[in-house]
This record gives sequence, structure tokens and C-alpha cells, in this order.
Amino acid sequence: MASQKTHDQRMNELVSLCRRRGFIFQSSEIYGGLNGCWDYGPMGVELKRNIKEAWWRDNVMSREDIVGVDCSILMNPRVWEASGHIESFTDPMVDCTQCRGRFRADQLEKNQCPTCGSKDKFTEARQFNLMFKTFVGAMEDSTSQVFLRPETCQGIFVNFDNILSSSRVKVPFGIAQIGKAFRNEINPRNFIFRSREFEQMELEFFVKPSEADEWFRYWKKTRYEWYLNYGIKQDRIHLREHEGKELAHYAAGCADIEYDFPFGRAELEGIANRTDYDLKRHAEFSKKDLSYFDEQAKERFVPFVIEPSAGADRATLAFLVDALEQEPERTVLRFHPKLAPVKAAVFPLVNKDGMPELAHKIHDSLKKNWVVAYDEKGAVGRRYRRHDEIGTPFCFTVDGQSTQDSTVTVRERDTMTQQRLSIDKVVEYLRDHL
Ligand code: GAP
Repeated sequence: MASQKTHDQRMNELVSLCRRRGFIFQSSEIYGGLNGCWDYGPMGVELKRNIKEAWWRDNVMSREDIVGVDCSILMNPRVWEASGHIESFTDPMVDCTQCRGRFRADQLEKNQCPTCGSKDKFTEARQFNLMFKTFVGAMEDSTSQVFLRPETCQGIFVNFDNILSSSRVKVPFGIAQIGKAFRNEINPRNFIFRSREFEQMELEFFVKPSEADEWFRYWKKTRYEWYLNYGIKQDRIHLREHEGKELAHYAAGCADIEYDFPFGRAELEGIANRTDYDLKRHAEFSKKDLSYFDEQAKERFVPFVIEPSAGADRATLAFLVDALEQEPERTVLRFHPKLAPVKAAVFPLVNKDGMPELAHKIHDSLKKNWVVAYDEKGAVGRRYRRHDEIGTPFCFTVDGQSTQDSTVTVRERDTMTQQRLSIDKVVEYLRDHL
């Protein structure tokens, strides 16, 4: 129980820091919020955008074999028949007969109600479909019913033929997408870990069936290393292969990248060998040929697909948890500089003697390229602490000497060391260190 409290405390500290410093708020908080929905504030939006940009840069921009798409959230409902979501995208749900609470049956511990504590007082489990429903047009009946997409990848599969005929891609190649997904989770929980509205970063990589195992190995390694490259601590991240029964019916292999969150080890990203299941199902339901002709080998086949599927919000939570350190003197978010919401802050030591003017000039020269703060409020030590708490890697301070010899001090977040630097080297310094 004692260690459980420590885990809860760690999580509470993070949630309160996120609120206090403008990372994440409860959605529509002034009306009491909406369970499972979250809003990103000025710091949170920069952090999450940097994570999504890092993913896009590494998986699309810097590769020649992957292209991007941005598909609509509402799709023809036949998509979800073909994908199997209408039939089987369900979780088992039970009601507590004592307090009327509703829970996922597979998440109960010792058949005990997490709200009122009563034991064995649940109804029989029934299957609950997680897709949100809405209607297109003026009629609200079964013919106009559509769904908010519960995953982004189906937009990729249904555009497979469009991409083949409009781009110069050749198998093996990938199609990537970042976008919102919606699931009516029975019990959203653990802050932004399990929410009802979230963002996915999905990549569908189409390969020759005979090469699927090799690409599956490649993507497991590549995706695992991606988190390490952005600073996640190696002892907190794990690659776990699914065992036989855990495998989805369409998958020939699956592995999860898991992270040690304060509430336990949990999935950050899934990597699956989805075989030719999706393209074949969409070919069957749409009556369109979704096979591929290999010009070189002169053979036609339906490609297998390897899917690394990550959550942008879960990644944001993992980077926050990993970066947060409570030191005796300060709270610090040690973000990788590429992910830090604010890259640098510029301070005048005092608000007189030409210091604000010079600090504004430096700020102007930096803000064209990066998100940089100008901060003149309070003692300089407090300004450093404020920026430690949002993870700003560098602070430049203009002091009395600056107006004499055109130098500033640069203070590094992680080491807290300071050195003097010529003002005309500030842009170069930041570029080198980011
Ligand atoms: N296309 C495959 C797919 O959607 P998934 O394991 O259901 O697979 C992939 O989801 C990723 O999406 C998860 O690893 C997680 O990061 C994120 N995700 C799924 N459900 C989520 C939720 N309710 N809240 C936040 N992120 C979620």
C-alpha cells in the first residue's frame, strides 16, 4: 500500500505540474469537465507538436519509401464492416448492482468494485461497442449513421490504390498518418493514458509476403530505438512479444513497446504483422482490386502490412514522466532539447540600464526560428526555476557587463552551469545545441 501511495503521489505531482504550468487541462473544466477528454495548454501543445513532428520527420520526411496522408475522420460505414469493428470492436462491460458503477470486466481486481468496494456484486458481462456514433445530413436513422474513426489506419488501407496510382511508390513502401481517433472507453483513466479522444501516429508498411518477418523485426527495432533517441531511459522501456492467445485474429505477430508509468508497465505502441487481412477485406467489401503488380518479378500479390501504431498522447505522457525529476532545490523537466516546448528564455537581469532593450533584441533574433520566451518578472533565480519546471534547456541573461562588452551568460538547465558568450554567437550556440 505504501508503494502504491508513492505511485499515486508521483502521478498527482505530474498532473498538478501539467495544470500549473499550462501543459494539460481537463476538457471544458469550467463546466465540470468531460470524462476521458483533455485540453493541451500553451506548453502541452508545443510538446505534443514536437513529438508528432519528430515522428513525421523520422518516418516520412527523412525516408524515400514512406509517404503521408491525412484522411477524414468520418468515413463510409462499410469501412467498419470490412475492418471488423462493427462486429467485434467491443469490451466486456459489467455493472455494480450496489453503486451502479459501470466497469470493464477484464480490468476488475478480485471481482471487487473499485468505487464502493463490494465483492461479487456484478451483472453478467455484456459486449459494448467502443465506436462513437453520429449522423450525416438531416435524417437521424440507420441509413445516415456514421462512426468517428476508432483508429487512423483504415483511412490508409482504403486509399492504398489512390496512393499507388498517384505516387511513384513501389513495394516495400509505407503510408503514414497522424490524426485523431475516438473510442468510447468504458473506464478512461490514468490521465491522458486512456482517453476517449486521442491522437494516433500510424504507419502501414506494405511488403512482399515472403519478406514480412524481416520487416517486422526491422520495425520493432527501429521504433524501440526511436524512443531512446529522444531520451527515454532504457531501463524504463521494454519490447514485449505477444503470446499466442493475445494475438489479434488477423495478426501473424505482434509486439508492444511498453513503458514503466507510475501506475505500472503499460503499452505505448503496438507493432503488428497484419498480414494481407486488411487489403483483402476491403477488396472483398468494396469489390475493388487491391493487389499489387511487381514489375520486376512479374508477379501479382496482395501485400502484407507491418504496422507500427503509436499514440501521440501516450508518448506525451511517457516523455513527461521520464523527464520529471524532483531535486532538493528544484523541479525539473529534462526533456530532449528537440522536444522541449520552449527552447530558450531571454532575461534582462534588471529592468533598467538598457538591459531590457538588449534582451528584446536577442529575443527577436531567436524567435524567428524557435519558440523562445522573454521573461523579466521576479528575481533571476526564480525565473530559472520557472523555466526548469517547463523544461527550457537554455536561459540567456543580459546583465550590466552585456551593455559594455556585448556578451551574455548562458545557463544550461541540466548542469545549471553558466558561461559567457558573445551576443553575436547566441543564434549559432542554440542551433548547435538543439
Ligand atoms: N491500428 C491499430 C491500433 O489502433 P491499438 O493498440 O488499439 O492499435 C494503437 O492502438 C495505439 O493507440 C496504442 O498503443 C496507444 O498508444 C494509442 N491508444 C489506443 N487507445 C487509446 C486511448 N483510449 N487513449 C489514448 N491512446 C490510445
